[in-house]
Amino acid sequence: MYNKIQETVEFLKKRGIQEPDFGIVLGTGLGSLVNMINTEISIPYKEIPNFPVSTVQGHSGTLIYGKLGNKNVVAMQGRFHYYEGWKMKEVTFPIRVMKFLGIENLIVSNASGGVNPSFKVGDIMIINDHINMMPEHPLRGMNDDRFGPRFLDLHEPYNLKMIEVMENIARQNNIPVQKGIYLALQGPTFETPAEYKMVSLMGADAVGMSTVPEVIVAKHMGMHCFGISVITDLGIEGYVEEVSHEAVQLAAKSSEKKISKLVKEFVKSWE
Ligand code: HPA
Repeated sequence: MYNKIQETVEFLKKRGIQEPDFGIVLGTGLGSLVNMINTEISIPYKEIPNFPVSTVQGHSGTLIYGKLGNKNVVAMQGRFHYYEGWKMKEVTFPIRVMKFLGIENLIVSNASGGVNPSFKVGDIMIINDHINMMPEHPLRGMNDDRFGPRFLDLHEPYNLKMIEVMENIARQNNIPVQKGIYLALQGPTFETPAEYKMVSLMGADAVGMSTVPEVIVAKHMGMHCFGISVITDLGIEGYVEEVSHEAVQLAAKSSEKKISKLVKEFVKSWE
Protein backbone atom coordinates (compact mmCIF):
# COMPACT_ATOMS: atom_id res chain seq x y z
CA MET A 1 0.00 0.00 0.00
CA TYR A 2 2.87 2.37 0.80
CA ASN A 3 4.04 2.41 -2.81
CA LYS A 4 0.53 2.92 -4.16
CA ILE A 5 0.13 5.92 -1.87
CA GLN A 6 3.40 7.41 -3.11
CA GLU A 7 2.26 6.90 -6.71
CA THR A 8 -1.04 8.68 -6.03
CA VAL A 9 0.71 11.48 -4.15
CA GLU A 10 3.16 11.98 -7.03
CA PHE A 11 0.25 12.18 -9.49
CA LEU A 12 -1.59 14.76 -7.38
CA LYS A 13 1.55 16.85 -6.85
CA LYS A 14 2.19 16.85 -10.59
CA ARG A 15 -1.39 18.01 -11.11
CA GLY A 16 -0.54 21.00 -8.90
CA ILE A 17 -1.59 20.09 -5.38
CA GLN A 18 1.07 21.76 -3.26
CA GLU A 19 1.41 22.26 0.48
CA PRO A 20 -2.20 21.78 1.60
CA ASP A 21 -2.96 22.75 5.21
CA PHE A 22 -6.29 20.98 5.69
CA GLY A 23 -8.02 17.87 4.43
CA ILE A 24 -11.81 17.95 4.38
CA VAL A 25 -14.15 14.98 3.89
CA LEU A 26 -17.58 16.14 2.79
CA GLY A 27 -20.37 13.87 3.96
CA THR A 28 -23.84 13.03 2.66
CA GLY A 29 -25.76 16.13 1.63
CA LEU A 30 -22.80 18.33 2.52
CA GLY A 31 -21.03 18.07 -0.82
CA SER A 32 -21.86 21.62 -1.77
CA LEU A 33 -19.73 22.90 1.10
CA VAL A 34 -17.27 22.77 -1.70
CA ASN A 35 -18.77 26.03 -3.01
CA MET A 36 -17.02 27.88 -0.22
CA ILE A 37 -13.66 26.77 -1.60
CA ASN A 38 -11.94 28.87 -4.20
CA THR A 39 -11.31 25.87 -6.42
CA GLU A 40 -8.03 25.76 -8.32
CA ILE A 41 -7.92 22.09 -9.23
CA SER A 42 -10.74 19.59 -9.51
CA ILE A 43 -10.03 15.93 -10.32
CA PRO A 44 -12.68 13.19 -10.66
CA TYR A 45 -11.73 10.16 -8.57
CA LYS A 46 -11.78 7.96 -11.63
CA GLU A 47 -8.77 9.87 -13.00
CA ILE A 48 -6.73 9.42 -9.82
CA PRO A 49 -4.51 6.34 -9.83
CA ASN A 50 -5.40 3.82 -7.10
CA PHE A 51 -8.46 5.76 -5.92
CA PRO A 52 -11.64 3.76 -5.44
CA VAL A 53 -14.62 5.18 -7.35
CA SER A 54 -17.69 6.05 -5.32
CA THR A 55 -21.07 4.90 -6.53
CA VAL A 56 -23.66 6.13 -4.05
CA GLN A 57 -26.25 8.64 -5.07
CA GLY A 58 -25.32 12.02 -3.62
CA HIS A 59 -21.59 11.30 -3.58
CA SER A 60 -20.10 12.74 -6.70
CA GLY A 61 -16.51 11.64 -6.30
CA THR A 62 -14.24 14.58 -7.01
CA LEU A 63 -11.06 15.71 -5.31
CA ILE A 64 -10.94 19.47 -4.94
CA TYR A 65 -7.93 21.64 -4.22
CA GLY A 66 -8.15 25.31 -3.54
CA LYS A 67 -8.21 28.14 -1.04
CA LEU A 68 -10.53 28.33 1.90
CA GLY A 69 -9.96 31.58 3.73
CA ASN A 70 -6.21 31.92 3.62
CA LYS A 71 -5.51 28.16 3.70
CA ASN A 72 -4.88 25.54 1.05
CA VAL A 73 -7.34 22.69 1.39
CA VAL A 74 -7.90 19.33 -0.25
CA ALA A 75 -11.54 18.32 -0.10
CA MET A 76 -13.11 14.98 -0.89
CA GLN A 77 -16.48 15.57 -2.49
CA GLY A 78 -17.79 12.08 -1.91
CA ARG A 79 -16.31 9.49 0.42
CA PHE A 80 -16.04 5.71 0.40
CA HIS A 81 -18.30 3.69 2.62
CA TYR A 82 -17.76 0.19 3.91
CA TYR A 83 -21.32 -0.76 2.90
CA GLU A 84 -20.47 -0.11 -0.74
CA GLY A 85 -18.26 -3.18 -0.55
CA TRP A 86 -14.88 -1.51 -0.13
CA LYS A 87 -12.38 -2.93 2.32
CA MET A 88 -11.47 -0.62 5.19
CA LYS A 89 -8.01 -0.12 3.65
CA GLU A 90 -9.77 1.22 0.54
CA VAL A 91 -12.23 3.36 2.53
CA THR A 92 -9.31 5.06 4.24
CA PHE A 93 -6.83 5.17 1.34
CA PRO A 94 -7.49 8.86 0.55
CA ILE A 95 -6.70 9.80 4.16
CA ARG A 96 -3.28 8.14 3.82
CA VAL A 97 -2.79 10.10 0.60
CA MET A 98 -3.73 13.35 2.35
CA LYS A 99 -1.11 12.75 5.01
CA PHE A 100 1.60 12.15 2.42
CA LEU A 101 0.55 15.31 0.60
CA GLY A 102 1.61 17.03 3.82
CA ILE A 103 -1.77 17.49 5.51
CA GLU A 104 -1.73 17.51 9.31
CA ASN A 105 -5.31 18.59 9.98
CA LEU A 106 -8.42 16.67 8.97
CA ILE A 107 -12.04 17.81 9.06
CA VAL A 108 -14.64 15.09 8.57
CA SER A 109 -18.33 15.71 8.17
CA ASN A 110 -21.31 13.41 7.98
CA ALA A 111 -25.05 13.05 8.33
CA SER A 112 -26.23 11.03 11.29
CA GLY A 113 -29.28 9.88 13.19
CA GLY A 114 -29.69 11.49 16.60
CA VAL A 115 -30.49 9.34 19.61
CA ASN A 116 -30.04 12.05 22.23
CA PRO A 117 -33.56 13.18 23.24
CA SER A 118 -32.48 16.83 23.36
CA PHE A 119 -31.52 16.78 19.65
CA LYS A 120 -33.65 18.06 16.77
CA VAL A 121 -33.46 17.39 13.04
CA GLY A 122 -31.05 19.89 11.50
CA ASP A 123 -28.91 20.21 14.63
CA ILE A 124 -25.18 20.46 14.14
CA MET A 125 -23.13 18.22 16.43
CA ILE A 126 -19.44 18.59 17.10
CA ILE A 127 -18.12 15.04 17.50
CA ASN A 128 -16.12 14.80 20.72
CA ASP A 129 -15.65 11.04 20.79
CA HIS A 130 -16.69 7.93 18.91
CA ILE A 131 -17.61 4.29 19.38
CA ASN A 132 -16.34 2.00 16.68
CA MET A 133 -18.87 -0.74 15.96
CA MET A 134 -17.78 -1.32 12.37
CA PRO A 135 -17.22 -5.00 11.55
CA GLU A 136 -13.72 -4.50 10.12
CA HIS A 137 -10.92 -2.42 11.58
CA PRO A 138 -8.86 -0.28 9.20
CA LEU A 139 -5.64 -1.12 11.09
CA ARG A 140 -6.23 -4.89 11.07
CA GLY A 141 -3.38 -6.87 9.59
CA MET A 142 0.35 -6.29 9.46
CA ASN A 143 1.27 -2.83 10.69
CA ASP A 144 3.42 -0.65 8.47
CA ASP A 145 5.53 1.40 10.88
CA ARG A 146 6.02 4.08 8.23
CA PHE A 147 2.40 5.06 8.86
CA GLY A 148 2.17 4.73 12.62
CA PRO A 149 2.29 2.40 15.62
CA ARG A 150 0.82 -1.08 15.93
CA PHE A 151 -1.14 -0.23 19.05
CA LEU A 152 -2.60 3.20 18.62
CA ASP A 153 -3.50 5.46 21.51
CA LEU A 154 -6.92 7.06 21.03
CA HIS A 155 -7.34 8.99 24.26
CA GLU A 156 -8.06 12.14 22.25
CA PRO A 157 -9.55 11.03 18.93
CA TYR A 158 -10.98 14.47 18.22
CA ASN A 159 -8.61 17.34 18.89
CA LEU A 160 -9.72 19.19 22.01
CA LYS A 161 -8.22 22.49 20.93
CA MET A 162 -10.08 22.26 17.61
CA ILE A 163 -13.33 21.57 19.48
CA GLU A 164 -12.77 24.59 21.69
CA VAL A 165 -11.97 26.84 18.72
CA MET A 166 -15.08 25.66 16.87
CA GLU A 167 -17.29 26.20 19.91
CA ASN A 168 -16.02 29.78 20.14
CA ILE A 169 -16.64 30.38 16.44
CA ALA A 170 -20.17 28.98 16.75
CA ARG A 171 -20.85 31.28 19.70
CA GLN A 172 -19.49 34.32 17.88
CA ASN A 173 -21.66 33.56 14.85
CA ASN A 174 -24.79 32.75 16.88
CA ILE A 175 -24.95 29.26 15.43
CA PRO A 176 -26.13 26.77 18.04
CA VAL A 177 -24.13 23.53 18.17
CA GLN A 178 -24.47 20.30 20.07
CA LYS A 179 -21.56 18.16 21.16
CA GLY A 180 -21.62 14.40 21.38
CA ILE A 181 -20.47 10.87 20.72
CA TYR A 182 -20.81 9.34 17.25
CA LEU A 183 -21.29 5.60 16.93
CA ALA A 184 -20.46 3.94 13.62
CA LEU A 185 -22.39 0.97 12.25
CA GLN A 186 -21.81 -0.61 8.87
CA GLY A 187 -25.20 0.16 7.29
CA PRO A 188 -26.60 0.30 4.67
CA THR A 189 -29.82 -0.23 6.61
CA PHE A 190 -30.93 2.54 8.87
CA GLU A 191 -31.46 1.36 12.44
CA THR A 192 -34.47 -0.48 13.78
CA PRO A 193 -36.10 1.04 16.88
CA ALA A 194 -34.33 -1.59 18.98
CA GLU A 195 -30.99 -0.73 17.40
CA TYR A 196 -31.46 3.00 18.03
CA LYS A 197 -32.14 2.08 21.65
CA MET A 198 -28.96 0.00 21.73
CA VAL A 199 -26.97 2.93 20.31
CA SER A 200 -28.35 5.17 23.02
CA LEU A 201 -27.71 2.62 25.79
CA MET A 202 -24.13 2.28 24.57
CA GLY A 203 -23.66 5.94 25.39
CA ALA A 204 -23.73 7.55 21.97
CA ASP A 205 -25.62 10.66 20.88
CA ALA A 206 -25.71 9.95 17.15
CA VAL A 207 -25.29 7.03 14.77
CA GLY A 208 -23.98 6.84 11.23
CA MET A 209 -22.16 4.75 8.65
CA SER A 210 -18.86 6.58 8.16
CA THR A 211 -16.19 8.84 9.69
CA VAL A 212 -14.76 6.49 12.33
CA PRO A 213 -12.47 4.53 9.95
CA GLU A 214 -11.12 7.76 8.48
CA VAL A 215 -10.45 9.25 11.90
CA ILE A 216 -8.70 6.10 13.12
CA VAL A 217 -6.38 6.08 10.12
CA ALA A 218 -5.73 9.82 10.40
CA LYS A 219 -4.83 9.37 14.08
CA HIS A 220 -2.61 6.43 13.14
CA MET A 221 -0.53 8.89 11.14
CA GLY A 222 -0.57 11.57 13.84
CA MET A 223 -3.09 13.91 12.21
CA HIS A 224 -5.35 16.23 14.19
CA CYS A 225 -9.00 15.42 13.62
CA PHE A 226 -12.14 17.47 13.83
CA GLY A 227 -15.55 15.89 13.21
CA ILE A 228 -18.89 17.54 12.59
CA SER A 229 -22.25 15.90 12.06
CA VAL A 230 -25.65 17.12 10.98
CA ILE A 231 -28.53 15.33 12.65
CA THR A 232 -30.83 14.38 9.80
CA ASP A 233 -33.30 12.13 11.58
CA LEU A 234 -34.08 10.97 15.08
CA GLY A 235 -34.07 7.52 16.62
CA ILE A 236 -35.47 8.41 19.99
CA GLU A 237 -37.66 5.96 21.85
CA GLY A 238 -41.26 6.51 20.85
CA TYR A 239 -40.18 8.85 18.01
CA VAL A 240 -38.48 6.55 15.56
CA GLU A 241 -39.78 7.74 12.22
CA GLU A 242 -39.42 6.49 8.69
CA VAL A 243 -36.14 7.64 7.14
CA SER A 244 -34.80 7.60 3.60
CA HIS A 245 -31.59 8.60 1.88
CA GLU A 246 -33.48 11.48 0.24
CA ALA A 247 -34.79 12.72 3.59
CA VAL A 248 -31.25 12.55 5.00
CA GLN A 249 -29.89 14.55 2.06
CA LEU A 250 -32.65 17.13 2.39
CA ALA A 251 -32.17 17.58 6.13
CA ALA A 252 -28.39 17.86 5.70
CA LYS A 253 -28.95 20.49 3.04
CA SER A 254 -30.96 22.61 5.46
CA SER A 255 -27.90 23.00 7.69
CA GLU A 256 -25.33 23.22 4.94
CA LYS A 257 -25.02 27.02 5.00
CA LYS A 258 -24.39 27.07 8.73
CA ILE A 259 -21.82 24.26 8.57
CA SER A 260 -20.10 25.98 5.64
CA LYS A 261 -19.80 29.17 7.63
CA LEU A 262 -18.44 27.32 10.67
CA VAL A 263 -15.89 25.32 8.71
CA LYS A 264 -14.70 28.34 6.76
CA GLU A 265 -14.21 30.47 9.87
CA PHE A 266 -12.57 27.55 11.62
CA VAL A 267 -10.01 26.93 8.90
CA LYS A 268 -9.30 30.65 8.64
CA SER A 269 -8.64 31.02 12.34
CA TRP A 270 -6.53 27.86 12.80
CA GLU A 271 -2.81 28.45 13.16
N1 HPA B 1 -28.39 5.89 10.86
C1 HPA B 1 -27.30 5.69 10.17
N2 HPA B 1 -26.80 6.57 9.32
C2 HPA B 1 -27.45 7.72 9.18
C3 HPA B 1 -28.59 7.98 9.86
C4 HPA B 1 -29.09 7.00 10.74
O1 HPA B 1 -30.13 7.17 11.39
N3 HPA B 1 -29.00 9.20 9.48
C5 HPA B 1 -28.12 9.65 8.60
N4 HPA B 1 -27.17 8.76 8.40
